[in-house]
Amino acid sequence: MLTRKTLFVAAGILAATLGAHGLGEGDAAASSRSGPPPLTKFSKIAQVIQDKCAACHTRDYELPFYAAIPGIREIIEKDYRDGLRAMDLNEEFGPSRLNKPVSEPTLAKMEWVTFNETMPPAKFTAVHWGSRVSSDERKEILLWVASFRAQHYATGTAVKELANEPVQPLPDSLPTDAKKVAVGKKLFNDKRLSGDNTLSCAGCHHLDKAGTDNQRFSEGVRQQFGDINAPTVFNAVFNMSQFWNGRAADLQEQAGGPPFNPIEMASKDWDEIIGKLNQDQTLSEEFKAVYPAGWSGASITDAIAEYEKTLLTPDSRFDQWLKGKKDAITKDEANGYQRFKAYRCSSCHVGKSLGGQSFEYMDLKKDYFKDRGGPLGSDEGLKGFTQKAEDLHKFKVPNLRNIELTGPYLHDGLVTTLDEAVRIMGTYLSGMEIPAVDRALIVDFMRTLTGEHEGKRLTGNVTPK
Ligand code: HEC
Ligand code: HEC
Ligand code: HEC
Repeated sequence: MLTRKTLFVAAGILAATLGAHGLGEGDAAASSRSGPPPLTKFSKIAQVIQDKCAACHTRDYELPFYAAIPGIREIIEKDYRDGLRAMDLNEEFGPSRLNKPVSEPTLAKMEWVTFNETMPPAKFTAVHWGSRVSSDERKEILLWVASFRAQHYATGTAVKELANEPVQPLPDSLPTDAKKVAVGKKLFNDKRLSGDNTLSCAGCHHLDKAGTDNQRFSEGVRQQFGDINAPTVFNAVFNMSQFWNGRAADLQEQAGGPPFNPIEMASKDWDEIIGKLNQDQTLSEEFKAVYPAGWSGASITDAIAEYEKTLLTPDSRFDQWLKGKKDAITKDEANGYQRFKAYRCSSCHVGKSLGGQSFEYMDLKKDYFKDRGGPLGSDEGLKGFTQKAEDLHKFKVPNLRNIELTGPYLHDGLVTTLDEAVRIMGTYLSGMEIPAVDRALIVDFMRTLTGEHEGKRLTGNVTPK
């Protein structure tokens, strides 16, 4: 029938479009047209994706000709727009991901829709012959996700029967240079990084408040407030990039931000900071022993970043459970985890830190910003960094480790109970109204994610359920 052919032709156009935009796997491939075909990253299942998914989940795609028919156009454009907002495969081929494996959220999302048989949308498969995913293809996708996850993302510490869970145990530690860590820790706690010597990094990221300040917005020097909630520094090393809008590529780059932010630490420049640190002979000598060239912006931020790599919180009860200790969590908590997966939460809050691996629209399924009112500058999200219109309202998915201690929640810091966070996520991100009983179970599960730092269970201000 017409439509099958259309999809096929469409795939051809897509291949050409992707080729022309250099979306092949490697740089070499991108520069020579004869390189591997697009979507090769998806190895075994590339063909299925190309034939059955790419039309609605890749950008720069030319709509099939029947889209010109009045009435049809609106439907297709809506599918295309909503599809792209939910999963944009072009991101897998952007400059930051070009040579990286398919991301964890993409894997988890594909797994969810395949397992639940929701894609392509029923209203589309009903009228487009041959567009359905066959049961063989379904098996193939699920097997591929499992093997890909095992190869690229599994921590390797979960028991065999839980090895393919979207949530993975945290590693106990990462390799670090102990001497750098020691000076980095001192600098993280050093108020001389601020213009008026009143505020250190730890002043907004208290380790006894699970790496946050438990404020809606942080207070900088001279009683100034920003308009965005401070995320935790614990496990931040696992984020694909730093800040809610990802404007720092890594921890080192991030650490160069706050000291000069006028409403945070408000120093003038590195010279000002180094001038003060230089007067501290003991610290300067210790620093020189590790960084022979002495104080510089690059070495200071390197040391802080090295220290932050030690800010992990392994061994939560949930990790113990993943590692095989069956009674580490209660029946309700285990049920909560099943619901966490069923309500799609683990499509975005995925991996060892349950987040930090993708940017998602806070108004994916419903207009959060209209319902909330009171617009904030920080609502822009990723657009504030990339300046791209399509990035409006996209935020880096926060990690959910130690979540019961890191309130208030969301970039706007307006959510003060865990139940409310789950309700909002259901409505605006998952597209499902979650009944109170299920919300309570999910909250129970989330409270098992509190881990240990330096051998001690994290404590702090517990957010009400
Ligand atoms: C006709 C267009 C179309 C096709 C073809 C299509 N999708 Fe989608 N996809 C959508 C739309 C629309 C949404 C948003 C769903 C919603 O808002 O209800 C979506 C959402 C998704 C999501 C995000 C989870 C969700 O449900 O919101 C994933 C993952 C996904 N699709 C995967 C796939 C895969 C895998 C295929 C191929 C097997 C596929 N899609 C084929 C239109 C499409
Ligand atoms: C005035 C309070 C304040 C101070 C001081 C401060 N931060 Fe932050 N920190 C924040 C806020 C607020 C954000 C979120 C800003 C954003 O995303 O735009 C943030 C974000 C971060 C992040 C990103 C976490 C993530 O999940 O994206 C890291 C890492 C971090 N800070 C480390 C540091 C370090 C290191 C220092 C010292 C050099 C520091 N902070 C000083 C308030 C502060
Ligand atoms: C489509 C991706 C997506 C899905 C699905 C999703 N989340 Fe989120 N989650 C996010 C993003 C993005 C934010 C941050 C949004 C913001 O602050 O504007 C967030 C924030 C949160 C927060 C607040 C964390 C903090 O530190 O501020 C919690 C708790 C949370 N989600 C839990 C859940 C639960 C439970 C579910 C399932 C019911 C879920 N999420 C589904 C993407 C998602």
